[in-house]
Amino acid sequence: MEGFIQVAYLIASVSFIVAIKLLGSPRTARVGNLIGAVGMLIGGVATLFYKGIVRYEWIAVGFLVGTVIGAWLALTVKMTAMPQMVALLNGFGGAASALVAAAEAGKAWIENTLPQTTPFALTTIALSVLIGAVTFSGSLVAFAKLQELISGRPFLLPAHHYQSLLLLLVSIGATVGFVGERALLPLYGVGIAATLLGVWITLPIGGADMPVIVSFLNSLSGLAAAATGFVLNNYLLIIAGTLVGASGLILTQIMSKAMNRSLWNVFFSAVGMGGPTGTVGDRTVRSTTAEDVALMLAYAKEVVIVPGYGMAVAQAQHAVKKLMDALAEKGVEVRFAIHPVAGRMPGHMNVLLAEADVPYEKLYEMERINADFPQVDVVLVIGANDVVNPAARKDPQSPLYGMPILDVDKAKTVVVLKRSMNPGFAGVENELFYQPNTYMLFGDARASLETLTQALKEV
Ligand code: TAP
Repeated sequence: MEGFIQVAYLIASVSFIVAIKLLGSPRTARVGNLIGAVGMLIGGVATLFYKGIVRYEWIAVGFLVGTVIGAWLALTVKMTAMPQMVALLNGFGGAASALVAAAEAGKAWIENTLPQTTPFALTTIALSVLIGAVTFSGSLVAFAKLQELISGRPFLLPAHHYQSLLLLLVSIGATVGFVGERALLPLYGVGIAATLLGVWITLPIGGADMPVIVSFLNSLSGLAAAATGFVLNNYLLIIAGTLVGASGLILTQIMSKAMNRSLWNVFFSAVGMGGPTGTVGDRTVRSTTAEDVALMLAYAKEVVIVPGYGMAVAQAQHAVKKLMDALAEKGVEVRFAIHPVAGRMPGHMNVLLAEADVPYEKLYEMERINADFPQVDVVLVIGANDVVNPAARKDPQSPLYGMPILDVDKAKTVVVLKRSMNPGFAGVENELFYQPNTYMLFGDARASLETLTQALKEV
């Protein structure tokens, strides 16, 4: 039976690697997802044959409860709530790893085998508890911030980062104590200090940086699982955990790079701590109507659409597609400019536009389209804000300074669809809205787009 389990684990591991490869392109992502899920099923079923399992009742209960909750979440959670859902799932992953490792330590203590356990095994148990607990509590705070259960603003206690450092040192000290003493008490210490550390690390991070942290915590949940894999001598867990750990780190790095920030800066600079910033003053804002925008669009040669988080909130992707079709009928060329961190998670805009059947060839990444903006007749900014804020280029005082942005301010005309003058996620005023060539079309993006498409058809 052991041989069968190992072969099944090998097949599952290969499936995960193939799945990650296929998830790299929107064309193959669905198949990739399916292969990954099948691999997970194979791994799960094979584990049920493990000889150490004495009774199946509790496994069945866990399976049923997990399936019901998972299915319910999959059917009800909105696309806009996906980041907090990922945060929650990471947290549970971390907690599971920590609990399994702690249970192994408890078992060894009851069976009185702790004194014979090797230092390597003890270290993996403590690391699994440490990383798992940080992931759990950090992810819960990230979830609470993204779900707006607590303020998304950075929260800093006096000498906050020194307190975090102290908690890290206590966690490491307790880990050393557990390995040296071979007693459970220091392991409790690891759990408690690491749980506090997760909260302390995440509290100072502002809402705008939250997706980066969620990705980082995702990576940690993978490392915790890999550590638990060593505890249990389970190769599948080691491989799957390492894959999650590595891909999470790569994603974290990609996001930090897209914001022109280092991970260090994301962790320690508490961006968004103050109120809305910027030096816009009380300059004039040009408000417009759907009918006027329809005229502009009808006589344009080329229109570029820039979607942002507001498009996701308004669920306006299908309305955007209808506008695109109406423009095509009038012979207007339409392209989409996609900023790497538009929205609240990587690939957020791509997923929504794909759902509305916008052809993938119409989507242009920032580097491919930025140079074209000066020639574009009209740019339609739909619920995007930070990713088109010129302060990132011009204002060294701005928290966004240095972040690469879509240079829509250089286009001939800009129309911004949003509900108010409120700032975006980073809490920063946007100078673009006050430019002489910018017009604001206030209202919910979907409603505005529907009126606009209707008006365009009547031109
Ligand atoms: P934001 O800067 O957050 O702006 C979104 C805008 O949408 C808001 O100004 C809001 O204005 C508008 N909006 C909200 N609901 C709307 C509705 N129903 N109809 C019309 N407009 C609506 O979004 P962005 O430009 O996409 O930038 C993303 C932000 O997230 C950046 O700060 C980025 O750094 C951060 N971030 C993202 C990621 C990833 S991976 N995506 C990772 C890290 C950080 P009103 O309230 O006035 O309507």
